[in-house]
Amino acid sequence: MQKKITSVQGLRGVIHVPGDKSISHRAIILGALAEGTTEIEDSLASGDCLRTRRCISSLGVPIKTAKDKIYVEGQGLWGLQEPNKILNVGNSGTTMRLLCGVLAGQPFTSFLSGDASLCRRPMERVVLPLRKMGAQIMGRQGASLAPLAIMGGNLKPLTYQLPVASAQVKSALLLAGLYAPGWTEILEPSVSRNHTELMLEAFGAQVEREEGWVRLKGLPKLQAQQIFVPGDLSSAAFLLVAGLIVPHSRITIKSVGLNPTRCGIIDILHAMGANLRVFDREEKAGEVQGAIEVESSSLQGISIGGEIIPRLIDELPVLAVAALFARGVTEIRDAGELKVKESNRLMAICEGLTRLGGCVEELPDGLRIQGGRPLRGAFCRGFSDHRIVMALAIAALGAEGETMINNAETVEISFPGFWRLLDELRCEK
Ligand code: S3P
Repeated sequence: MQKKITSVQGLRGVIHVPGDKSISHRAIILGALAEGTTEIEDSLASGDCLRTRRCISSLGVPIKTAKDKIYVEGQGLWGLQEPNKILNVGNSGTTMRLLCGVLAGQPFTSFLSGDASLCRRPMERVVLPLRKMGAQIMGRQGASLAPLAIMGGNLKPLTYQLPVASAQVKSALLLAGLYAPGWTEILEPSVSRNHTELMLEAFGAQVEREEGWVRLKGLPKLQAQQIFVPGDLSSAAFLLVAGLIVPHSRITIKSVGLNPTRCGIIDILHAMGANLRVFDREEKAGEVQGAIEVESSSLQGISIGGEIIPRLIDELPVLAVAALFARGVTEIRDAGELKVKESNRLMAICEGLTRLGGCVEELPDGLRIQGGRPLRGAFCRGFSDHRIVMALAIAALGAEGETMINNAETVEISFPGFWRLLDELRCEK
Protein backbone atom coordinates (compact mmCIF):
# COMPACT_ATOMS: atom_id res chain seq x y z
CA MET A 1 0.00 0.00 0.00
CA GLN A 2 1.21 3.49 -0.88
CA LYS A 3 0.49 6.48 1.31
CA LYS A 4 0.37 10.11 0.22
CA ILE A 5 1.61 12.64 2.77
CA THR A 6 1.36 16.39 2.43
CA SER A 7 2.96 19.11 4.48
CA VAL A 8 1.04 20.39 7.47
CA GLN A 9 0.73 23.77 9.16
CA GLY A 10 0.46 22.48 12.72
CA LEU A 11 -0.07 19.36 14.83
CA ARG A 12 -2.10 19.62 18.03
CA GLY A 13 -3.67 17.21 20.46
CA VAL A 14 -3.54 15.16 23.63
CA ILE A 15 -3.16 11.49 22.75
CA HIS A 16 -2.15 7.99 23.85
CA VAL A 17 0.07 5.71 21.80
CA PRO A 18 -0.35 1.89 21.70
CA GLY A 19 1.32 -0.32 24.30
CA ASP A 20 5.04 -0.98 24.57
CA LYS A 21 6.12 -3.70 22.16
CA SER A 22 9.03 -5.01 24.24
CA ILE A 23 6.98 -5.24 27.43
CA SER A 24 4.03 -6.87 25.62
CA HIS A 25 6.20 -9.68 24.18
CA ARG A 26 7.77 -10.34 27.56
CA ALA A 27 4.50 -10.34 29.48
CA ILE A 28 3.06 -13.03 27.19
CA ILE A 29 6.17 -15.19 27.40
CA LEU A 30 6.64 -14.94 31.17
CA GLY A 31 2.88 -15.34 31.66
CA ALA A 32 3.12 -18.64 29.78
CA LEU A 33 5.93 -19.91 32.05
CA ALA A 34 4.28 -18.83 35.30
CA GLU A 35 1.76 -20.64 37.45
CA GLY A 36 -1.71 -19.11 37.31
CA THR A 37 -3.35 -16.64 34.95
CA THR A 38 -1.43 -13.50 34.03
CA GLU A 39 -3.63 -10.52 33.21
CA ILE A 40 -2.07 -8.03 30.78
CA GLU A 41 -3.67 -4.62 30.40
CA ASP A 42 -3.15 -2.54 27.24
CA SER A 43 -0.93 -5.18 25.65
CA LEU A 44 0.11 -4.15 22.15
CA ALA A 45 -2.00 -5.88 19.49
CA SER A 46 0.42 -5.24 16.64
CA GLY A 47 1.72 -7.63 13.99
CA ASP A 48 4.84 -8.54 16.00
CA CYS A 49 3.07 -9.11 19.29
CA LEU A 50 0.33 -11.18 17.63
CA ARG A 51 3.12 -13.44 16.36
CA THR A 52 4.31 -13.98 19.93
CA ARG A 53 0.74 -14.71 21.03
CA ARG A 54 0.27 -17.29 18.27
CA CYS A 55 3.62 -19.00 18.89
CA ILE A 56 2.89 -19.23 22.61
CA SER A 57 -0.57 -20.68 21.85
CA SER A 58 1.10 -23.28 19.60
CA LEU A 59 3.17 -24.32 22.62
CA GLY A 60 -0.05 -25.30 24.40
CA VAL A 61 -0.74 -22.12 26.36
CA PRO A 62 -4.35 -20.85 26.23
CA ILE A 63 -4.59 -17.07 25.69
CA LYS A 64 -7.91 -15.21 25.92
CA THR A 65 -8.61 -11.66 24.85
CA ALA A 66 -11.28 -9.39 26.37
CA LYS A 67 -11.47 -5.66 25.52
CA ASP A 68 -8.14 -4.06 26.49
CA LYS A 69 -6.92 -7.10 28.45
CA ILE A 70 -5.43 -10.44 27.60
CA TYR A 71 -5.25 -13.44 29.90
CA VAL A 72 -2.40 -15.93 29.61
CA GLU A 73 -3.07 -19.26 31.33
CA GLY A 74 0.43 -20.07 32.53
CA GLN A 75 1.56 -23.69 32.39
CA GLY A 76 4.52 -23.39 34.75
CA LEU A 77 8.17 -23.75 33.67
CA TRP A 78 7.69 -27.35 32.52
CA GLY A 79 4.20 -27.24 31.04
CA LEU A 80 4.89 -26.25 27.43
CA GLN A 81 4.07 -28.79 24.71
CA GLU A 82 6.04 -29.67 21.60
CA PRO A 83 4.49 -27.63 18.75
CA ASN A 84 3.16 -29.70 15.86
CA LYS A 85 4.03 -27.07 13.27
CA ILE A 86 6.78 -24.58 12.46
CA LEU A 87 6.57 -21.52 14.72
CA ASN A 88 6.26 -18.56 12.37
CA VAL A 89 7.54 -15.33 13.97
CA GLY A 90 6.83 -13.21 10.87
CA ASN A 91 8.87 -9.99 11.00
CA SER A 92 9.56 -10.14 14.73
CA GLY A 93 13.20 -10.45 15.79
CA THR A 94 12.16 -10.15 19.43
CA THR A 95 9.79 -13.14 19.16
CA MET A 96 12.47 -15.17 17.41
CA ARG A 97 15.33 -14.47 19.78
CA LEU A 98 13.36 -14.61 23.03
CA LEU A 99 11.67 -17.86 22.01
CA CYS A 100 15.07 -19.36 21.13
CA GLY A 101 15.94 -18.89 24.80
CA VAL A 102 12.72 -20.49 26.05
CA LEU A 103 12.86 -23.38 23.57
CA ALA A 104 16.50 -24.12 24.38
CA GLY A 105 15.23 -25.14 27.82
CA GLN A 106 12.50 -27.51 26.62
CA PRO A 107 12.86 -31.30 26.45
CA PHE A 108 11.48 -31.33 22.89
CA THR A 109 12.21 -30.14 19.36
CA SER A 110 10.89 -26.91 17.82
CA PHE A 111 11.26 -25.29 14.43
CA LEU A 112 11.27 -21.50 14.02
CA SER A 113 11.04 -19.37 10.92
CA GLY A 114 9.87 -15.95 9.78
CA ASP A 115 9.51 -13.63 6.81
CA ALA A 116 12.21 -12.70 4.28
CA SER A 117 13.61 -9.89 6.45
CA LEU A 118 13.74 -12.09 9.56
CA CYS A 119 15.53 -14.84 7.64
CA ARG A 120 18.30 -12.36 6.76
CA ARG A 121 18.92 -11.25 10.35
CA PRO A 122 21.86 -12.61 12.40
CA MET A 123 20.95 -15.45 14.76
CA GLU A 124 24.41 -16.72 15.72
CA ARG A 125 24.40 -14.13 18.50
CA VAL A 126 21.78 -16.25 20.33
CA VAL A 127 22.71 -19.64 18.90
CA LEU A 128 26.35 -19.64 20.07
CA PRO A 129 25.73 -18.94 23.78
CA LEU A 130 22.64 -21.21 23.84
CA ARG A 131 24.79 -24.02 22.45
CA LYS A 132 27.29 -23.34 25.24
CA MET A 133 24.42 -23.87 27.68
CA GLY A 134 23.77 -27.27 26.09
CA ALA A 135 21.04 -26.72 23.48
CA GLN A 136 21.39 -28.32 20.05
CA ILE A 137 20.52 -25.83 17.33
CA MET A 138 20.64 -26.23 13.58
CA GLY A 139 19.88 -23.76 10.85
CA ARG A 140 21.02 -22.21 7.61
CA GLN A 141 24.66 -21.20 7.29
CA GLY A 142 25.84 -22.94 10.45
CA ALA A 143 22.69 -21.84 12.30
CA SER A 144 23.51 -18.20 11.81
CA LEU A 145 20.26 -17.71 9.86
CA ALA A 146 16.64 -18.87 10.30
CA PRO A 147 14.89 -21.24 9.82
CA LEU A 148 16.26 -22.80 13.01
CA ALA A 149 15.62 -26.19 14.62
CA ILE A 150 16.09 -26.30 18.40
CA MET A 151 16.50 -29.50 20.39
CA GLY A 152 16.50 -28.25 23.96
CA GLY A 153 16.80 -29.55 27.47
CA ASN A 154 19.45 -30.30 30.11
CA LEU A 155 20.85 -26.80 30.17
CA LYS A 156 23.72 -25.72 32.35
CA PRO A 157 24.21 -22.16 33.58
CA LEU A 158 26.53 -19.83 31.74
CA THR A 159 28.58 -16.72 32.43
CA TYR A 160 28.65 -14.76 29.20
CA GLN A 161 30.05 -11.45 28.00
CA LEU A 162 27.80 -10.16 25.20
CA PRO A 163 29.86 -9.05 22.17
CA VAL A 164 27.16 -6.47 21.24
CA ALA A 165 24.75 -4.70 23.58
CA SER A 166 21.52 -6.49 22.72
CA ALA A 167 18.47 -6.74 24.93
CA GLN A 168 17.15 -9.56 22.77
CA VAL A 169 20.24 -11.71 23.29
CA LYS A 170 20.43 -10.85 26.99
CA SER A 171 16.75 -11.77 27.35
CA ALA A 172 17.15 -15.05 25.43
CA LEU A 173 19.95 -16.10 27.79
CA LEU A 174 18.00 -15.09 30.90
CA LEU A 175 15.00 -17.09 29.66
CA ALA A 176 17.23 -20.10 28.98
CA GLY A 177 18.81 -19.50 32.41
CA LEU A 178 15.39 -20.22 33.95
CA TYR A 179 15.99 -23.86 32.94
CA ALA A 180 19.60 -24.18 34.18
CA PRO A 181 20.38 -25.09 37.80
CA GLY A 182 22.52 -22.32 39.33
CA TRP A 183 23.29 -18.75 38.32
CA THR A 184 23.34 -17.59 34.71
CA GLU A 185 25.33 -14.37 34.48
CA ILE A 186 25.45 -11.86 31.62
CA LEU A 187 27.69 -8.86 31.11
CA GLU A 188 26.89 -6.28 28.44
CA PRO A 189 29.23 -3.72 26.86
CA SER A 190 26.69 -0.95 27.45
CA VAL A 191 23.30 -0.85 29.10
CA SER A 192 20.41 -2.18 26.99
CA ARG A 193 16.71 -2.22 27.87
CA ASN A 194 16.06 -4.12 31.11
CA HIS A 195 12.37 -5.06 30.85
CA THR A 196 13.13 -8.79 31.07
CA GLU A 197 15.06 -8.43 34.32
CA LEU A 198 12.38 -6.22 35.85
CA MET A 199 9.59 -8.56 34.84
CA LEU A 200 11.41 -11.69 35.97
CA GLU A 201 11.78 -10.05 39.39
CA ALA A 202 8.08 -9.19 39.42
CA PHE A 203 7.20 -12.83 38.59
CA GLY A 204 9.28 -13.97 41.58
CA ALA A 205 12.61 -15.03 40.07
CA GLN A 206 15.82 -14.31 41.96
CA VAL A 207 17.64 -11.65 39.96
CA GLU A 208 20.70 -9.59 40.90
CA ARG A 209 21.73 -6.70 38.73
CA GLU A 210 23.94 -3.67 38.42
CA GLU A 211 24.67 -1.43 35.45
CA GLY A 212 25.85 -3.68 32.61
CA TRP A 213 25.56 -6.88 34.65
CA VAL A 214 22.71 -9.22 35.51
CA ARG A 215 22.45 -12.71 36.99
CA LEU A 216 19.51 -15.01 37.48
CA LYS A 217 19.05 -18.13 39.63
CA GLY A 218 17.66 -20.98 37.56
CA LEU A 219 14.66 -23.20 38.24
CA PRO A 220 12.46 -20.63 40.02
CA LYS A 221 8.73 -20.96 40.51
CA LEU A 222 7.20 -18.05 38.57
CA GLN A 223 3.91 -16.66 39.82
CA ALA A 224 1.29 -15.11 37.51
CA GLN A 225 1.11 -11.31 37.66
CA GLN A 226 -1.04 -8.38 36.66
CA ILE A 227 0.91 -6.36 34.09
CA PHE A 228 0.11 -2.82 32.95
CA VAL A 229 1.72 -2.04 29.61
CA PRO A 230 2.59 1.66 29.22
CA GLY A 231 2.53 3.41 25.84
CA ASP A 232 5.57 2.67 23.69
CA LEU A 233 8.16 5.46 23.82
CA SER A 234 9.56 4.15 20.53
CA SER A 235 6.17 4.82 18.89
CA ALA A 236 5.72 8.12 20.73
CA ALA A 237 9.13 9.21 19.35
CA PHE A 238 7.70 9.69 15.83
CA LEU A 239 5.02 12.05 17.09
CA LEU A 240 7.40 13.86 19.45
CA VAL A 241 9.73 14.65 16.57
CA ALA A 242 6.73 15.64 14.42
CA GLY A 243 5.61 18.09 17.09
CA LEU A 244 9.10 19.57 17.31
CA ILE A 245 9.74 20.10 13.60
CA VAL A 246 6.29 21.24 12.41
CA PRO A 247 5.65 24.92 13.29
CA HIS A 248 2.60 25.86 15.43
CA SER A 249 2.48 22.44 17.08
CA ARG A 250 1.86 21.21 20.58
CA ILE A 251 1.40 17.50 21.29
CA THR A 252 0.91 15.80 24.66
CA ILE A 253 1.32 12.03 24.88
CA LYS A 254 0.00 10.45 28.06
CA SER A 255 1.01 7.25 29.90
CA VAL A 256 4.22 6.61 27.97
CA GLY A 257 6.88 4.20 29.22
CA LEU A 258 9.85 6.09 30.68
CA ASN A 259 12.14 3.23 31.67
CA PRO A 260 15.59 4.94 31.90
CA THR A 261 17.13 2.25 29.66
CA ARG A 262 14.83 3.50 26.87
CA CYS A 263 15.02 7.26 27.43
CA GLY A 264 18.06 8.13 25.29
CA ILE A 265 15.73 9.89 22.83
CA ILE A 266 14.56 12.31 25.53
CA ASP A 267 18.14 13.12 26.57
CA ILE A 268 19.16 13.77 22.96
CA LEU A 269 16.12 15.88 22.10
CA HIS A 270 16.73 17.99 25.21
CA ALA A 271 20.37 18.42 24.20
CA MET A 272 19.20 19.50 20.71
CA GLY A 273 17.19 22.28 22.34
CA ALA A 274 13.75 20.68 22.19
CA ASN A 275 10.92 22.25 24.08
CA LEU A 276 9.99 18.92 25.69
CA ARG A 277 8.54 18.43 29.15
CA VAL A 278 8.01 15.20 31.09
CA PHE A 279 5.41 15.20 33.86
CA ASP A 280 2.98 13.02 35.87
CA ARG A 281 5.64 10.37 36.41
CA GLU A 282 4.52 7.26 38.27
CA GLU A 283 5.81 3.72 38.77
CA LYS A 284 3.57 0.76 37.96
CA ALA A 285 4.86 -2.77 38.61
CA GLY A 286 8.51 -1.75 38.33
CA GLU A 287 8.14 0.28 35.11
CA VAL A 288 8.08 4.10 35.12
CA GLN A 289 5.57 5.92 32.95
CA GLY A 290 4.46 9.52 32.49
CA ALA A 291 3.29 12.21 30.09
CA ILE A 292 5.45 14.01 27.53
CA GLU A 293 4.61 17.33 25.94
CA VAL A 294 6.44 18.90 23.02
CA GLU A 295 6.10 22.22 21.24
CA SER A 296 7.62 23.34 17.94
CA SER A 297 11.27 24.09 18.63
CA SER A 298 14.36 25.44 17.01
CA LEU A 299 16.74 22.47 17.11
CA GLN A 300 20.53 22.33 17.05
CA GLY A 301 22.64 19.55 15.46
CA ILE A 302 24.44 17.14 17.81
CA SER A 303 26.88 14.20 18.01
CA ILE A 304 25.24 10.93 19.01
CA GLY A 305 27.40 7.89 19.78
CA GLY A 306 28.91 5.57 22.40
CA GLU A 307 27.03 4.25 25.42
CA ILE A 308 23.75 6.01 24.67
CA ILE A 309 23.18 4.10 21.40
CA PRO A 310 21.40 1.02 22.85
CA ARG A 311 19.12 3.39 24.81
CA LEU A 312 17.78 4.92 21.59
CA ILE A 313 18.57 2.32 18.94
CA ASP A 314 15.02 2.16 17.51
CA GLU A 315 14.66 5.96 17.54
CA LEU A 316 17.68 6.70 15.34
CA PRO A 317 15.71 6.84 12.06
CA VAL A 318 13.40 9.51 13.45
CA LEU A 319 16.29 11.31 15.16
CA ALA A 320 17.86 11.56 11.71
CA VAL A 321 14.66 13.34 10.66
CA ALA A 322 14.95 15.75 13.61
CA ALA A 323 18.54 16.41 12.53
CA LEU A 324 17.37 17.45 9.04
CA PHE A 325 15.37 20.24 10.64
CA ALA A 326 18.16 21.30 13.03
CA ARG A 327 20.81 23.96 12.56
CA GLY A 328 24.26 22.59 11.73
CA VAL A 329 25.57 19.06 11.44
CA THR A 330 24.41 15.96 13.32
CA GLU A 331 26.66 12.94 13.40
CA ILE A 332 25.44 9.50 14.49
CA ARG A 333 28.22 6.96 15.20
CA ASP A 334 28.55 3.48 16.80
CA ALA A 335 25.21 2.52 15.25
CA GLY A 336 26.33 -0.35 12.98
CA GLU A 337 23.55 -2.47 14.55
CA LEU A 338 21.08 -0.49 12.43
CA LYS A 339 22.31 -2.43 9.40
CA VAL A 340 20.83 -5.67 10.78
CA LYS A 341 17.40 -4.47 11.86
CA GLU A 342 14.18 -5.12 9.87
CA SER A 343 16.06 -3.48 6.99
CA ASN A 344 19.50 -1.92 6.65
CA ARG A 345 18.23 1.20 8.36
CA LEU A 346 21.36 3.28 7.69
CA MET A 347 21.00 2.74 3.96
CA ALA A 348 17.19 2.99 3.97
CA ILE A 349 16.89 6.26 5.89
CA CYS A 350 19.79 7.76 3.98
CA GLU A 351 18.07 6.97 0.67
CA GLY A 352 14.66 8.26 1.77
CA LEU A 353 15.85 11.52 3.30
CA THR A 354 18.12 12.18 0.32
CA ARG A 355 15.15 11.73 -2.05
CA LEU A 356 13.33 14.38 -0.02
CA GLY A 357 16.21 16.77 -0.66
CA GLY A 358 18.10 16.28 2.62
CA CYS A 359 21.88 16.30 2.80
CA VAL A 360 22.66 12.91 4.36
CA GLU A 361 25.83 10.86 4.12
CA GLU A 362 25.99 7.19 5.12
CA LEU A 363 29.00 6.36 7.34
CA PRO A 364 30.26 2.83 8.09
CA ASP A 365 28.60 2.94 11.52
CA GLY A 366 26.19 5.86 11.27
CA LEU A 367 25.07 8.96 9.42
CA ARG A 368 26.20 12.55 8.91
CA ILE A 369 23.32 14.95 8.39
CA GLN A 370 23.53 18.59 7.39
CA GLY A 371 20.40 20.26 8.71
CA GLY A 372 18.44 23.24 7.51
CA ARG A 373 17.93 22.41 3.82
CA PRO A 374 14.38 22.91 2.48
CA LEU A 375 12.73 19.56 1.68
CA ARG A 376 10.41 18.79 -1.24
CA GLY A 377 7.99 15.87 -1.59
CA ALA A 378 9.17 12.79 -3.52
CA PHE A 379 8.54 9.07 -3.92
CA CYS A 380 10.25 7.17 -1.07
CA ARG A 381 10.75 3.45 -0.57
CA GLY A 382 9.71 2.02 2.81
CA PHE A 383 11.94 -1.09 2.59
CA SER A 384 9.10 -3.09 4.25
CA ASP A 385 10.32 -1.62 7.53
CA HIS A 386 7.77 -0.04 9.87
CA ARG A 387 10.19 2.42 11.44
CA ILE A 388 11.57 3.60 8.10
CA VAL A 389 8.04 4.20 6.79
CA MET A 390 7.06 6.19 9.90
CA ALA A 391 10.29 8.22 10.01
CA LEU A 392 9.87 9.20 6.34
CA ALA A 393 6.22 10.09 6.96
CA ILE A 394 7.33 12.54 9.67
CA ALA A 395 9.96 14.09 7.40
CA ALA A 396 7.28 14.46 4.70
CA LEU A 397 5.16 16.61 7.03
CA GLY A 398 7.87 19.25 6.76
CA ALA A 399 8.48 18.89 3.00
CA GLU A 400 6.87 21.10 0.40
CA GLY A 401 4.37 19.27 -1.83
CA GLU A 402 3.39 15.63 -1.86
CA THR A 403 5.37 12.59 -0.73
CA MET A 404 4.44 9.01 -1.61
CA ILE A 405 5.75 6.19 0.60
CA ASN A 406 5.28 2.52 -0.23
CA ASN A 407 4.85 -0.37 2.25
CA ALA A 408 2.65 1.96 4.34
CA GLU A 409 0.81 -1.05 5.83
CA THR A 410 3.99 -2.12 7.69
CA VAL A 411 3.27 0.43 10.44
CA GLU A 412 0.96 -2.31 11.82
CA ILE A 413 4.07 -4.20 12.95
CA SER A 414 4.56 -1.87 15.92
CA PHE A 415 2.11 1.05 15.74
CA PRO A 416 -1.45 0.16 14.73
CA GLY A 417 -3.41 3.37 14.12
CA PHE A 418 -0.34 5.46 13.23
CA TRP A 419 -1.90 6.98 10.09
CA ARG A 420 -5.20 7.75 11.81
CA LEU A 421 -3.44 9.41 14.76
CA LEU A 422 -1.32 11.52 12.44
CA ASP A 423 -4.47 12.71 10.64
CA GLU A 424 -6.19 13.49 13.93
CA LEU A 425 -3.29 15.70 15.04
CA ARG A 426 -3.35 17.78 11.84
CA CYS A 427 -4.69 21.28 12.17
CA GLU A 428 -4.78 23.43 9.07
CA LYS A 429 -5.18 27.15 9.65
C1 S3P B 1 14.29 -5.18 21.52
C2 S3P B 1 15.64 -4.96 21.53
C3 S3P B 1 16.34 -4.21 20.48
C4 S3P B 1 15.38 -3.39 19.65
C5 S3P B 1 14.16 -4.16 19.26
C6 S3P B 1 13.41 -4.64 20.48
C7 S3P B 1 13.69 -5.97 22.61
O1 S3P B 1 17.00 -5.13 19.62
O2 S3P B 1 16.02 -2.89 18.51
O3 S3P B 1 13.28 -3.37 18.48
O4 S3P B 1 12.47 -5.95 22.78
O5 S3P B 1 14.47 -6.62 23.33
P1 S3P B 1 18.48 -5.70 19.93
O6 S3P B 1 18.42 -6.53 21.13
O7 S3P B 1 18.82 -6.50 18.70
O8 S3P B 1 19.35 -4.51 20.08
